[in-house]
Amino acid sequence: MTAKPTTESQCLITVNGTVREFTGPTHTNALDFLRGEGLTSCKEGCAEGECGACSILVARADGDATRWTALNACLLPAVALDGQEVITAEGLGDRTDLHPVQQQMVEHGGSQCGYCTPGFVCSMAAEYYRPERAAPAGTPPDEEDAADHHCGPNGFDLHALSGNLCRCTGYRPIRDAAFALGTPAADDALAARRYRPAPAVVNTDLSRADTPAGQLGRYRRPGTLQEALRILSEEPEVLPLAGGTDWGVEVNIKGARARSLLAIDRLSELRQLDVTDTHLEIGAACTLSELERGLQGRIPLLDKLFGQFASRLIRNSATIGGNLGTGSPIGDTPPALLALEAELVLSSVADQRMVPLADYFTGYRQTVRRPGELISAIRIPLPLSKLTSFQKISKRRFDDISSVAIGYALAVEGGIITKARIGLGGVAATPLRATATEMVLEGRAWELETIRAAARVMGEEGTPMDDHRASAEYRKAMLASSLERFFAAQLQETGRLTGEGK
Ligand SMILES: Cc1cc2nc3c(=O)[nH]c(=O)nc-3n(C[C@H](O)[C@H](O)[C@H](O)COP(=O)(O)OP(=O)(O)OC[C@H]3O[C@@H](n4cnc5c(N)ncnc54)[C@H](O)[C@@H]3O)c2cc1C
Ligand code: FES
Ligand code: FES
Repeated sequence: MTAKPTTESQCLITVNGTVREFTGPTHTNALDFLRGEGLTSCKEGCAEGECGACSILVARADGDATRWTALNACLLPAVALDGQEVITAEGLGDRTDLHPVQQQMVEHGGSQCGYCTPGFVCSMAAEYYRPERAAPAGTPPDEEDAADHHCGPNGFDLHALSGNLCRCTGYRPIRDAAFALGTPAADDALAARRYRPAPAVVNTDLSRADTPAGQLGRYRRPGTLQEALRILSEEPEVLPLAGGTDWGVEVNIKGARARSLLAIDRLSELRQLDVTDTHLEIGAACTLSELERGLQGRIPLLDKLFGQFASRLIRNSATIGGNLGTGSPIGDTPPALLALEAELVLSSVADQRMVPLADYFTGYRQTVRRPGELISAIRIPLPLSKLTSFQKISKRRFDDISSVAIGYALAVEGGIITKARIGLGGVAATPLRATATEMVLEGRAWELETIRAAARVMGEEGTPMDDHRASAEYRKAMLASSLERFFAAQLQETGRLTGEGK
């Protein structure tokens, strides 16, 4: 959608079909705004994207249509919803006229204290309306598979609920409710809404008293990349804001405030996916969920990563550019993108430059990105190496930050490893390539002896540290065992000793 300029310094948000004005400071999150409006189904559990009690539905553009997208209201600035449409659990249904997801939760005993329930109901409703949801062909998954990742007999993907926690009901009745859902009725207004365009992006520019001392906080959503880059060049202190899943935690938990925010998440120039003969270019403001859908399996290594990155709720907001913009040593995309030999397109008002990701990080949360520059795209060279893996070692299998993350991309020809690229996260102040291990692997046979020799070198890569996630010793052990895990998984997948012909 093209952006519409605001004509007045008002922020108007349509919630459950009624237009409401947001008049608070720019750091106010959508959760506080909605609760202030009396829409108290939206709950605060953690205020840092971990529990899903605050889930809401937002009408997001999906080509020319609309996709009901579940988001964490606690991480979303209310002002970012200027001109947008929101549905809360109150808008889905009420006691006299329950929505199908609410009805199934009642029938399957999916709620006890009820604190988490509105959040579950919103995440479930997003999945209920997901256009691609359809009963899988063939035999339904067995119970173990269904509990893990796979879709229910009605096509309901349990990962839609991976960002919602329940402390008292237990997940079985909630899962049963989800798997009992049918398809939306012909007169379902939210289902019908999907076939019309999403609300246009609004060029917001609001300044509001933001502190007890009355300092102004400004929030701008420019209409074009050039305008965003001009603002950044003239006002280097401005903070670019994409999905806000990192920034929202800073605001809520650490009390961070920005005097001036620049919303870049809806800039169409940053939201393209381009495939050429030589490379695939991903716009920095594409969310992880959009990439899961949009790449259509073109980059198997990223497919292996997506399901392990946070939760569906976070992936619906988190952008790939934001994951690199933080400069974090434990982001999940850098190890995979290093293995894929990605380059970053850094854009400023004056020019554009390409930087290999391997040269991007310079120190703990330090990068070569200059003031006034944005990451505008991530470029992945083609063709891709065929043997790939993404290993994430974390305390919980899903919805957790990694202790160690490893991305592999290997090419094997005639039984010989002709190219090895390995990206590491969580084992140094920056993500890095395991270049010493790559050198051991290249030119040698793809066999256990080679893997064992390389594993000894891999165990010494990086400079792992002790922290609350893992000890240095544990991290080293994870590095040392990783290659054998990769090799064993490949053997299992192919049933033979080479990766050729895959
Ligand atoms: C509950 C929870 C779970 C999480 N789990 C994971 C996980 O499993 N793996 C993982 O890697 N991360 C995880 N994260 C962290 C976060 O979701 C990711 O880092 C995400 O990709 C950040 O993207 P964003 O668009 O939300 O960034 P924002 O919060 O909008 O921005 C983050 C930083 O990047 C800068 N920035 C944003 N876009 C650009 C750009 N295009 N150019 C330059 N700078 C830019 C911003 O100025 C800001 O400093 C988790 C976060 C939460 C809250
Ligand atoms: S309040 Fe826990 S995710 Fe928002
Ligand atoms: S019903 Fe009590 S937390 Fe889920």
